[in-house]
Amino acid sequence: MEERKGFGSNFGFLMAAVGSAVGLGNIWGFPNKMGASGGFTFLIIYLILAVICGFIVMLGELALGRKTGKGAVAAYHAISKRFKWVGWLGVASAFLIMSFYCALGGYCIKYVVLNVGNLFGTGFGSNGMNGGDVFGAFLTNQSEGVIYGLIFVVLTMLIVMGGVSGGIEKFCGIGMPALFVMLLICIIRACTLPGAVNGLKYMFVPGWAVANGVIAEAPSIFEVISTAGGQMFFSLSIGMGAMITYGSYLDKKEHLEKNAVLIIVMDTLVALMAGLCVMPARFALDPEGPIGGPKLLFITMQNVFDSMDGAIGPIFGIIFYLLVVLAAVSSSISLLETVVAHFVDKAREEGKGDRRKKYSLIASILIALLCVLVCVDGLGSNGIAPWELLKLDGYKGWSDCWLDFFDMISEGVFMPLGGLLMTLMIGWEIGPEVVKNECEATEGHKMSSYPFFKVCCKYITPLCMLLILYGQLKSFFG
Ligand code: PFF
Repeated sequence: MEERKGFGSNFGFLMAAVGSAVGLGNIWGFPNKMGASGGFTFLIIYLILAVICGFIVMLGELALGRKTGKGAVAAYHAISKRFKWVGWLGVASAFLIMSFYCALGGYCIKYVVLNVGNLFGTGFGSNGMNGGDVFGAFLTNQSEGVIYGLIFVVLTMLIVMGGVSGGIEKFCGIGMPALFVMLLICIIRACTLPGAVNGLKYMFVPGWAVANGVIAEAPSIFEVISTAGGQMFFSLSIGMGAMITYGSYLDKKEHLEKNAVLIIVMDTLVALMAGLCVMPARFALDPEGPIGGPKLLFITMQNVFDSMDGAIGPIFGIIFYLLVVLAAVSSSISLLETVVAHFVDKAREEGKGDRRKKYSLIASILIALLCVLVCVDGLGSNGIAPWELLKLDGYKGWSDCWLDFFDMISEGVFMPLGGLLMTLMIGWEIGPEVVKNECEATEGHKMSSYPFFKVCCKYITPLCMLLILYGQLKSFFG
């Protein structure tokens, strides 16, 4: 049987795992949710949840992957009788998330090109239109949306075809440090703009958003917990097998606990840094613009760059959208790898060799089909939203567009459900000592967090996750 190749170094693994976690959710989700849900109060709740849920699920997934040496589907199959099928839930989540992630990643590439156009004054720039009109015109230009979406799918596929160390590790090893530097440059520019301080107040000061009319009323504590919990799951890429897959490529000599903590700390740090870039810029240069979601990225931020003098605007535009492309690609490759790993492993075990290229291509074609649907829909601009296509008038509210629909199923249901089932499996079926043994498989390492891990995994984490799942369903279904 051909050898299963993993990450070449712990740094490579860490960059790939952080790359998976750092994505679009950090940029348009976290800063706005933090501001609208109580500033520092939200941050504290987020951090508590990251410790009692995020750390537990992250460590559980990494351990499960490394112990079995298999991707999500085969790992659950190998270790559990009752939860055998949970890996497939992860693959389904990965497919659904990829559908809109690739569409949005394509939009980011389009905005890099747009800002290059603005820099050189060519016809493919904004042509004097404001951010809202440019984005509106792009969304209704279905063929352009599809082309950019497909470029992003192909980019993801090519990296995954390169393999774990030759493709994923290489890309993230360079891409993540580059992203960090670009983000720092953008933060310095944003925080030195006149009026930037309001963005900082919005993000950090409890009650500022309500007192200043940015949002109508403060959310209840239950809403804050479920918003923070949902954001945490999506942001850390947990509950769907991506970390099982990456963990399966990790060497026995690497510390699992240390890596789990580092991934969580770095992801939260980048989310806060992204906030320090987008919120000050928005409050300084486009205070009426959308404040979260895709519109923050493609309308508000483009208005911000358009309002800067001379070549500076397009140059910052190029840097900013390039960093978002990097964040999106490093996440989407982990999603595709979650799908592909299972089939590659199976082929290898059956002695058919490494069919990575073939399976990457097949999975990418299937993902491309869903991505085309999301692009043609153009965030609900083109009359084919799910409720319109499926004639479900009564459900108009929760399915404004295909992106929301796929997001609702994956982020709203499958991911928290996947996390819940995983902790139940570890806590009550196979036993938390399985994770302890795997952590201690690293020579000379003692799992110092074991007593905490055990109590959380059995009782606290599943209960919190039930709450998050309920809150997510409530927020999506109204
Ligand atoms: N963590 C990514 C983000 O914050 O945008 C989203 C994501 C990537 C979720 C990879 C799940 C995953 F496997």
